[in-house]
Amino acid sequence: MSIGPLSEHAIALIHDLCSRDDAITCAFSGAEDIVVLDLIHRSNLRVPVFAVDTGRLHAATHAYIQQAQQHYNLDLTWVTPDPSAVTAFERHNGRFSFYEDGHQACCSLRKTEPLRKHLAHFDGWLTGLRRDQNPNREALPELQVDPIFLGLRGPLKKANPLANWSRLEVEAYIRHHSLPLNPLVHQGYKSIGCEPCTRALQPHEHERAGRWWWETNTNKECGLHEQPVQIIGGLKNET
Ligand code: ADX
Ligand code: SF4
Repeated sequence: MSIGPLSEHAIALIHDLCSRDDAITCAFSGAEDIVVLDLIHRSNLRVPVFAVDTGRLHAATHAYIQQAQQHYNLDLTWVTPDPSAVTAFERHNGRFSFYEDGHQACCSLRKTEPLRKHLAHFDGWLTGLRRDQNPNREALPELQVDPIFLGLRGPLKKANPLANWSRLEVEAYIRHHSLPLNPLVHQGYKSIGCEPCTRALQPHEHERAGRWWWETNTNKECGLHEQPVQIIGGLKNET
């Protein structure tokens, strides 16, 4: 499918989610998910955006998120971890424990728990997740009940308007509309997370290979997006 019909479909999904009397927010990681911000902008909707500042992002990602904020005049919130919990964790485990003990504890402290608190103020959120990012995401629906987080009034809707897009289609959209890019992309980064846990890729490598690059498992997730999947619309319920 060319990007024209793809973006029309994604805009319809975004409109559908935002047209109800629900509090909706959009996640922005400072990577190619800028496409979601652009689709919202084209929809003439004003959706609050948040970025989880784990405290370990690249300076380039910080600067890029601020650039995007100015570009789209975003209503942007930085979501941050509890500083005293971070201090206590680092005192006990050091600043690089993820290289030894796995990344789950640090990701939980710096990403998942702050996000849990933030999303508790909303009924739904938009992400830049795609099926082709990770084998773990291949059943990702466009609209689902969030399998991890609860919303303001109970179940939290999670919309993934790029679910069906391939990486090439995302890149084509970015080129076609001349969207600003995180400069790390020009240094060989594709999937971009925290600075100590992300490396640039060789040309032949899968886009997730640079995330938690010292780990050998293929399920490269930090805890924000675990499945199983419950799809909204009555089509499928795998929980
Ligand atoms: S992660 O779980 O492995 O870190 P990934 O980098 O693939 O996620 O990004 C998938 C989507 O998760 C992004 O498009 C965005 O919607 C959301 N996301 C990931 N990291 C952040 C972040 N730091 N702040 C806000 N949203 C994020
Ligand atoms: Fe911590 Fe690395 Fe997870 Fe960032 S990606 S929260 S630094 S383990």
